[in-house]
Order: sequence, then structure tokens, then C-alpha cells
Amino acid sequence: MKNIYLDHAATTPLDSRVLKAMTPYFTQHFGNPSSVHSFGQNAAAGLERARAIMAQYLHCQPSEVVFTSCGSESDNLALRGAALTTRQERGANHLLISPIEHPAILRTAQQLQDLFGFELEFLPVDKYGRVTPAEVAKRIRPETAVVSVMYANNEVGTLNPIAKIGEICREASVLFHTDAVQAVAHLPANVQKLNVALLSIGAHKFYGPKGVGALYVRDGTTLIPSQAGGAQEFGLRAGTENVPYLVGMAEAFRLVQIEHSQRSTASKKLRDRIIARVLEEIPHAKLTGHPSQRLPNHASFALKNVDGNLLVAMLDARGFACSSGSACKTGNPKPSGVLTALGYSPEWTKGGLRVTVGKDTTSDDVEAFLDTLPDVVALAREM
Ligand SMILES: Cc1ncc(COP(=O)(O)O)c(C=O)c1O
Repeated sequence: MKNIYLDHAATTPLDSRVLKAMTPYFTQHFGNPSSVHSFGQNAAAGLERARAIMAQYLHCQPSEVVFTSCGSESDNLALRGAALTTRQERGANHLLISPIEHPAILRTAQQLQDLFGFELEFLPVDKYGRVTPAEVAKRIRPETAVVSVMYANNEVGTLNPIAKIGEICREASVLFHTDAVQAVAHLPANVQKLNVALLSIGAHKFYGPKGVGALYVRDGTTLIPSQAGGAQEFGLRAGTENVPYLVGMAEAFRLVQIEHSQRSTASKKLRDRIIARVLEEIPHAKLTGHPSQRLPNHASFALKNVDGNLLVAMLDARGFACSSGSACKTGNPKPSGVLTALGYSPEWTKGGLRVTVGKDTTSDDVEAFLDTLPDVVALAREM
């Protein structure tokens, strides 16, 4: 029985080099980084080293890196924190976001509208899921509190022109946030070049541990804290820091940022092979997302009249792990909101298939998957 993992957009295994960096912080350096004694100070030194590494590869100051518990928390802190402060500071009450954001942004924005009275406006996306800078320029207003557009979409892999959108927001003096949780696992994360005020990261997408993340907060940007209490994380996020995991995230981030071009070259070959064979060999299959402006490891499809969840379960029974869209939707029989927003009709929107390769995926893995897929799709269509 095969056991091939092709769902790296959902999560990645921990890199053994990352585990090695983390281990001393579970054992020797177990102190509370807020403690004055040497146990605490050793942990604090590890924490601040981790922050400095994150800052080095984000091209920012360590004081601009806020540690969180996950990408979702970073998104919550960014959007809610910035919206509430901006309204307090200058009465801005308008939110501008893409309609195919991750639920961590979509539901936070919805909450800001429903409970806090913000006006929520969705930017139009093209058939690939891209937001155009021209649409941002058209819709941004003096009363816009925050613009949030994801760097790369988790379900269809499409990349957005973040630097250009950032430029427009900067010129309009409006805060710009990007959810880069998927993107920084594959692309450079230079916040200066990206022109962002806020950028979300989650470690488990780039071979770091689960349950830890970061938010870049440009100097001078004030946020309402996500969690009140102690003064940790510059007063933005109370709670004793998860030192071993944060050390692990920094090591994983360092590795992905120095190895990304080599990892991407290998991933792209596998991705393109998957796309080519699926489109050639499976009837009524469409590539979803942008054909070239997409994550290097990400192949996603809409399969007509297929139940995506059933297909994923059948593939799993044959030893292949992939997903029907985003991991968050597994077990949910509803049509994909992303595919619906991209204009797909109902006979396509339940048949999402996402295949995401990783740094250790081999071409034998991919060929075995592609040899199996057509029969499984045919069987799923019969059921
Ligand atoms: C684009 C995007 N944003 C946010 C998240 C949430 O990250 P986390 O699982 O670390 O909370 C994910 C995870 O799937 C994601 O893909």
C-alpha cells in the first residue's frame, strides 16, 4: 500500500533540522522568557534570536515582528486590530478585501461588519482569482480603514500583484495587509519590496511546527491587541511565548528563504507534469487558478460532476493524500465558495481537486498518482 503525501498546502512535515533547533528549548532552556533569572534569560535570548532571524529574512526590524499562535491569529490581529485602531484614529469605517480570502480573513471581516458596524466591500476577482491594482485604485477611499488581499490563494494557487496593490494603498495612506501564509513557503518575503504594512505567516506551511505564526507590523502602525493581559509581544498578544516552537519557526523560515528557488525549480517540474497529464487524460477537467502566476508546487482542478470529498476519500484508500480544495473544507459537502466566486457553475464547484507537492516529493510519487487518478475519477463519477 502506497503512502504518498500530496497535500503540502494543508500542512508540511517538520524538517529534521528544525526539530534539532527546537529540542534544547524543550529541555535545557525551558525558562519563562519574562523571568529575570538565567533560566528565563536563556529562553528570552532564544526568542529574540528567533525574532532577529525572522526580521532578517522579512527585511524589517525585529521590533516589527509579532509572534502569534498561527496564521489565523495573525490574520485576526491584522484585520481586526488595524480596523478598530484606524476607526478610532480617523473615523475610517470601510474595509476592502478580496472575496476569496482564507476564512481567517473572511470571517473576521464579516464579524467587523456584523458586530462592529464596518462597511465591508469585496474587490472583484478575475476568472483566475486575481485582484487587479486598478480595481483597488478605483475602490479605495479616504474612509478605507484597511485593504486585505492575499499573496497566494490556498485553494487555486493564484498569486496577486501585491507590490503594486501596496503602492496604491501607500499613496492613499491606507493600511495594506496581505495574508502570505501560503506564499512565503515558496516565494521571497521581502516586506519592503512588497509594500505592505502588515503580513501574516504560519510556520506549518514551510516545514515548521503547527500552532505558531508571526505578523509583520510596519513601524508606526498601531493595532488593538488580539489578546489582552501581559506585556508580551509589544503588548499586542498576551501570553507566555511558545519558545521552542518560535525557535523552530525561525529556523524553518531561514531554511525556506535560502532554499526557495531550488525547491521551486523542482516543484514546478512536478506541478507542470501533474497539470499536463490531468488535462490530457481526464475528460471534463479544468485547471483552476492562473496558468502561470501560481504557486510553484500547486496544481488545482475542477472536475465536472465529481464529488471532490468522495474522490479524496477514494484516493486516500489507494494511498494518495490530496485535498478537494482547502483543508478547512474537508468533510464539508458544500460547493467551493472560491470556485463559485471564480464563475464556475454548480456542476463544477463540488469537484475541486488540489494536489500540492513538497520538497521531498519524487517524480515516481507523481507518476504513481497520475497512473491511478483517471480510474478513480471515472469510478467517483459513476457513484
Ligand atoms: C492562505 C491561508 N491563510 C491562513 C491560513 C491559516 O493558517 P493556520 O493554519 O496557521 O491558522 C491558511 C491555512 O490553511 C492559509 O492557507
